[in-house]
Formats: sequence, structure tokens, C-alpha cells
Amino acid sequence: MRLRLVFFAAFLIALSILSPAVVPARAPAQTASRSKPFDLIAWNGGQFVYGVDYYPEAWNESRWEKDAAMMQAAGINFVRMAEFAWAKMEPTEGHYDFAWLDQALKVLNAHGIKAVLGTPSASPPAWLMAKYPDIAAMDENGVRYRYGSRRNYCMHNPNFLAAVRGIVTAMAEHYKNHPGVLGWQIDNELGSPDCYDSLCQAAFQKWCRTKYGSLDAVNKAWGTIFWGHTYSAWPQIPLPWNTLYGVHNPSLELDYHRYFSDANRDFLVMQTDILRRIAPAKAITHNEMGLFDAIDYSHLNTAIDFVAWDNYPMMDRNLASYANPGLAHDLMRGSKNQQNFMVMEEEGGLPGWNTFWGHQAPPEMYRVWAYQAIAHGADGVCYFRWRTSRYGTEQYWQGVLDQDSYPNARYAVVKQMGNEVKRLKDVLEGTHPVSQVALLVSPDTRWAFNIQTLVKDFSYNGQLHRYYDSLRRQGVNVDVVFPQGDLSPYKVIVAPSLFVVTPELARKLTDFVAGGGALVLTYRSGVKDEHNVFTDQTLPGPLAELAGVAIHEYDPQVDEASHQEIVLDGQHYPAKVWSDILTPGPAETLATYGKLYYAGSAALTRNRSGKGSVYYVGTEPDSPEFYDRLLAGILQGAGITPGPRPPDGIEVATREGSGRTVLFLLNYTAAKQSVDVGQGYRDALSSSSTSGSVELPEFGVRVLVK
Ligand code: GLA
Ligand code: GLA
Repeated sequence: MRLRLVFFAAFLIALSILSPAVVPARAPAQTASRSKPFDLIAWNGGQFVYGVDYYPEAWNESRWEKDAAMMQAAGINFVRMAEFAWAKMEPTEGHYDFAWLDQALKVLNAHGIKAVLGTPSASPPAWLMAKYPDIAAMDENGVRYRYGSRRNYCMHNPNFLAAVRGIVTAMAEHYKNHPGVLGWQIDNELGSPDCYDSLCQAAFQKWCRTKYGSLDAVNKAWGTIFWGHTYSAWPQIPLPWNTLYGVHNPSLELDYHRYFSDANRDFLVMQTDILRRIAPAKAITHNEMGLFDAIDYSHLNTAIDFVAWDNYPMMDRNLASYANPGLAHDLMRGSKNQQNFMVMEEEGGLPGWNTFWGHQAPPEMYRVWAYQAIAHGADGVCYFRWRTSRYGTEQYWQGVLDQDSYPNARYAVVKQMGNEVKRLKDVLEGTHPVSQVALLVSPDTRWAFNIQTLVKDFSYNGQLHRYYDSLRRQGVNVDVVFPQGDLSPYKVIVAPSLFVVTPELARKLTDFVAGGGALVLTYRSGVKDEHNVFTDQTLPGPLAELAGVAIHEYDPQVDEASHQEIVLDGQHYPAKVWSDILTPGPAETLATYGKLYYAGSAALTRNRSGKGSVYYVGTEPDSPEFYDRLLAGILQGAGITPGPRPPDGIEVATREGSGRTVLFLLNYTAAKQSVDVGQGYRDALSSSSTSGSVELPEFGVRVLVK
């Protein structure tokens, strides 16, 4: 039930523990401070970080020099290496061999290419697991996995932890003064698998003990009186493993998600502590997964220097749905105080694994997506991978080059881009996305919805996208903020389906509105407290007063017969998923339901409160026009002037800073397009001045600056 997919690819397709002794308190809340953001360009010696993921260990050494020369010719100045090379770096227990990696670095460095080295814990060597079979994680039925695949370890196994400490210490000692090594990537895509062995159970119990102090407090918080599940000793607390009917207490499950996220952070911190102690000058990052839901990245990322993530737009998407990678970029940026980040794996070819194919994209798209990353705040783009593997599960996962190393069309595109990022460095330096609108994304809410499905058509990410996509269609930059984040920079905050609400969050939102902000809440808000316990206040619970509405009835739309419509200014829009039937208090009714027994009841309200206003959208309208219309009005009311409204399939985004505005126009379509940008821009690549209607070629990009 709870088994997470062990690789990112399948995660997207499927969309849907450290020394056990230490469970630190959750890290301090993030602030919006941009005072000392990590500067990726300065870190890379004043160059935009432009790279490829490189696996020299899988190719004959005679090839390395040719590779490095081809990389240099394409403008590449960065590689990530070694994250799956544990067996080669430690061929037998305690005997480390870095000679091959030294040689690869020498060849690359001679061509002006520096490296981030991955700590290799994601794929332990066969000898290690053979000696200590208990390193393998245990599934929820009590069966241990066996050797093979990757991400197969128990985070609390002492023999595994000792081996990880050994290899990480050896790498740190060996490379601490190496000028060609810029820093480290910890592990690879942390967040799986869940392990259900006794060590992990003990770690969860310890986490609960640290959080609650007493069993009484646990029993109270989780409401274990239900079905008489009261615990009288710590070892009785179970993991959410297989049970009859597959159900657990949702409060226990929410704490389990928090524990698992914290345990991943602890495992990462075990490594960062070693690296920082031995090699304090090197920077640390981790390759993350956008909207992946097992980890609260806003918490994890307090432990690393800068955010990096892995972006594969063609896993399950069509070309024009640029808002999918767009939201993921913005969430990744928001997970560390809106600081600029890098893409550690940018799709460089067709995705494919043993059992599936992604979609093929025109080669030009690999440039468009790289520019999209930059537009959303990336100061580095690293393509996965330099060359398609001849071996293993990823033989169909195309790199920039294919196995034959022929300088193909993707290589030509990567080379063009390499030339351009060199020229754009000065324009980009000191700029970042600036937004007046934020989307509030709550990991607790996401987990609570995963634990108890709302209705089959509900998707938390889908709700986020309804509003996010509309804002982007209107040319508006969007920040993602987490509940502990600073809300003060924003004029408008959209908080879709904010299911789990703490008193502190309710207070923050109230202050935001009192100060003049516009807040958009949507159906199923304020239902659960921080323990995933249902509120005993009238819905939307702690947000009811702020929203100025009461909800005494609701209608889950379990099938088509229950589908609704929402009527706004005489216009009927289809609606589905859920209806909160709103009883306005001080709030005014802006739209009503169009069908069924509650036709005419309020479906959308606005409450003027303090200097601001709160909108409550009781359902999920199924029409982009509805969102465009609603949000256009809210933006206007907040005094926000949207950017140029682009045609379909065109994205506009801006970065600002150092007295400049950089405007990106990105064409995801196979047709020529144009966008009216107004006056005063020059083209950052051609330096010619530009105003009025700007032409975009098919799958083309324009970077304008003023
Ligand atoms: C992930 C992993 C890479 C690789 C790619 C493609 O992003 O980090 O090692 O497996 O997927 O499958
Ligand atoms: C059965 C059980 C009750 C309750 C209801 C609703 O009737 O006897 O305890 O669980 O179903 O689920």
C-alpha cells in the first residue's frame, strides 16, 4: 500500500533514518530574507553553470578526452559525476580508489569543466549488501528487498550508516582541496523507500516520544479512543503497515509522513556534517523532484546551500503544458526562500526505462525548457545525461548524445544554448523572479489528502494548477510559499483546499488580510487541525471568521450525476469534485450554484476584512475562463498589472534585479507567434532594440531586457 516507487521516472508516470538516536526538532521557519542567497554564478567562477551529468566510469578511458573537447566546444563548464559509482570508489570494504575519478577530473578540468560529486549512498555495492543483508529495506508485509535496483536501503541500519560515513569521509578527505571540485550532491533523489523493519519502527516511536513527551499526549493528539487503539507503552506504536482493510488512524499516518520526511533530512544531515567538517569550502546540494510528495523540501532545504532539482517535462506531458515544469520550478525556488537554484538533471533527450517510453520532443525544445528554468530562477542547467547508456535499465533514456557519440541535433541545440548562456551571464547576474502573487502549498495538507482521499476526481496538484495556470496565462509571475514562509511580500495569496490549518497559520492569514492582502480560499479548507483531527468548529473551522461564511452542508461529487455548475454574472460554468454550500455571514455572494437541491445557494463569496478581502470558492469550476475571470478581477483589485497576455502555448516570465528587468518569451508551439511587449526593451542576444509586437519563431525563445 505504502510502497513508494523507487525511481523518479515511475513516480511521475504514476501520478498521482541516521543514527536512530537523534531526531532534531524541525528546523527554524524559513524567512523571506534574500540577504545572503547562494550565488551560483560566483561559485562557478563567474560563469553561468552549464553542464551535463557524466558517467566516465561507464566508458573507455580513451573516450574521455574526446568527450571533454566536445563538451567544451558546446560551452559546457560543469559536470555532475560519481553518484552511482560507490562500487568503483570502494571496490572492497574500506579500500578506496579515486585514481580513475582523479584522472577524469584532470581531463575535464583541462577543458575548463568543474564538477559536483555525488555521494553514492543511493546505490550500495553488492559486497556491502551481501555482507549485511539487513541493509535492504523491508516492505510493509515484513519481507526484505534483495539486492538489485537502487534506493533499496534502510536509513536506520547501523552497518549501512557506518559504510556511508566511510565513503563520504573518504571522498571529503580526498577532494577537500581539489580546485576542480565545486561541491557535493547528497545521495540521489531522496524519499524512498519506506522501510518497515524494527529499526524504523523504533525510530518512529522515538520521533513520537520527542514530539509528544508522553503517551498520554500521543493518545490525546491522535484520538486513539477510536476503536480503543489506546497505547500504554511506546513499543506498541505501529508503523502504518498492512492492516486488515488497509486503514490506520489518519493522525498516526500524518505524523508518520512528518517522521519519514525528517528521517530523510537526518540521513542527509549525517552526510552534510561530515562534508562541512572536512571540506568547509565546498557547497552542498541535493537533486530533488519538484512536486514529489514524500519530503517537505522547505524543511530539508534548510540543511543545504542551494536547491537543485531534476526536470523531465516529457515524462507524461504534452509540449504546450508548460505550467507543469513551471509550477515545479516555482515550488523548488519557494522551498528555500525564493533563492535562485539550478536544474541538476534537465531533460536532454527522450525518456525511457525498461518498461515505458516518454514522448519525443523536437530538439529545439531542450533549449526552450532550459530557458524556462532560467526564467523561473535557475542560475544553472545541467542536462541528463551526456550520452545514453549502453548498459542497464536506462538504455532507452536518451542523453544529449546517443551511444554512438554522433554530434546529433540535440548536441547542436545544447551547443547553441551554451553559446547563449555565456553571452547572457551579465544580463542574468543579480536578477531573480519577483512576484506579487503567491500560491500557498502545504505539505501537511497534501499528506492528509493522500491519507484520506477526498473524491476520486480530486487532486491537490490539480487544484494548485487551476489557479497557477490561470495566473501564468495572464502573464503573472507566481511564488510558491510554504505555511511557515513570509507572506508579507505579496498582495494576493491563493491557498487552494487548505485542509490542515494550525492556529498559527490561521493567525498569519488573518494578519495578511488585515494588512490589505487578498486571500483566495477554496473548498475543503480549515477541516483538520495539525493532528489531522476534524475540527469541532463550524466549517471552514479556524478560517470561518476570516472568510465570513459558514458551511453546514457539503456535497462530494462522486459521479457525473452530482456534477454542478457555478453561476457568475449570469454565466454558467461547469463545476465538479466538491461543493461547499456556503451560508454567507458578513461575506457577500458573488456566484451561486446552478443545479440540484441547493441551486441558488452561495458558491463564491467575498468578505471584506480589515484592509483586505477573502474569497471563498466553494467548488472546482471546470473551465479555464472562470479562473481567468475571477483572478483578473482580484489582480486588478490588488493593483497588480499583469504582464503581456501571451497567446496559447506561449509563456512570459520575468527576472528583476540590479536595475534590470529581463523578459522571457517562450514558444512551446510549432507555429510562429508574436507577443506585444510594449516599449523600451532590447534583445539581450542580438542587442537590437525591440518594442511593440515581438516575433517568436517555432519553438523559439526571446530574451529581452530593459
Ligand atoms: C532520475 C535519476 C537519474 C536517472 C533519471 C532518468 O532523475 O536521478 O539517475 O535515473 O531519473 O531515469
Ligand atoms: C458498521 C460498524 C460501525 C461503523 C459503521 C460505519 O455498521 O458496525 O462500527 O463502522 O459500519 O462504517
